[in-house]
Amino acid sequence: MDKTLAEMAVEVLSTANGRAKTALARQHAATWRAARASGEQLEVGHAAPPDTPARPALPELLHPRDVPRRRPGTPEGREALLHAVAHIELNAVDLHWDIIARFTDTPLPLGFYDDWVQAGDEEAKHFNLMADCLEEIGSHYGALPAHAGMWRAAQDTADDLFGRLAVVPMVLEARGLDVTPGMIDVFRKAKAQSAVDALEIIYAEEVAHVAYGSKWFHFLCGRHDHDPKEQFHTLVQKYFHGALKAPFNVEKRADAGIPPDFYWPLADDHPTTPDRFRSTG
Ligand SMILES: [Fe+2]
Ligand SMILES: [Fe+2]
Repeated sequence: MDKTLAEMAVEVLSTANGRAKTALARQHAATWRAARASGEQLEVGHAAPPDTPARPALPELLHPRDVPRRRPGTPEGREALLHAVAHIELNAVDLHWDIIARFTDTPLPLGFYDDWVQAGDEEAKHFNLMADCLEEIGSHYGALPAHAGMWRAAQDTADDLFGRLAVVPMVLEARGLDVTPGMIDVFRKAKAQSAVDALEIIYAEEVAHVAYGSKWFHFLCGRHDHDPKEQFHTLVQKYFHGALKAPFNVEKRADAGIPPDFYWPLADDHPTTPDRFRSTG
């Protein structure tokens, strides 16, 4: 019998090695899409995702304040940047397959699963691109320490699909849109063309992930008759620890369906930030 989509997601989450995890993610995404195209729908099903996904023994995971900072203008700094992005992408693979398996008790249109399967496939590609760039300069994923605590947002929102959509795609992935152009500049100045090409692909594809978040957040707000903006502000205050960092990539956020009044009241530098939007944590 065919595996259900939820079972396939749990397999991805339970695979530790980065290349093996991403190979499985890509394979399962292709299986889901082929079934959708043929009209022979795979079942979404139910399967319990692990509390924390399996990860390789390396990189060593450190508190963010203990991860050594290196200047981006140096080869070591660029290696560290590629390594940090690889770590974010591997975490993103798990985040997208986790949202597929975690909330199957909530009835959702199949398009919800199409979107997160697509995002889970693209994150796998992004990890592989970053791992390739590291290997090209004689390094590899696991060669440097990485941030612990990236799974925190997933744990905090394990029982709250609204909260998961607000914090993961609409805050964390939207932040990626803000910072990626600066990273591309770093590698362009260093004439590191393969890193520039890889980051351009990541930058283009991440807009859609943020858009999926906004689309399904608005869908759920509509189903429950919530005001999306107010709901977003409440959930970000509840689950995201700290203010949102300006400057924002207004143009790409707009492309992704996130209007300015969603994020500006939560920003660290907004002169008229009302007290109720200020961080308490
Ligand atoms: Fe990505
Ligand atoms: Fe993403």
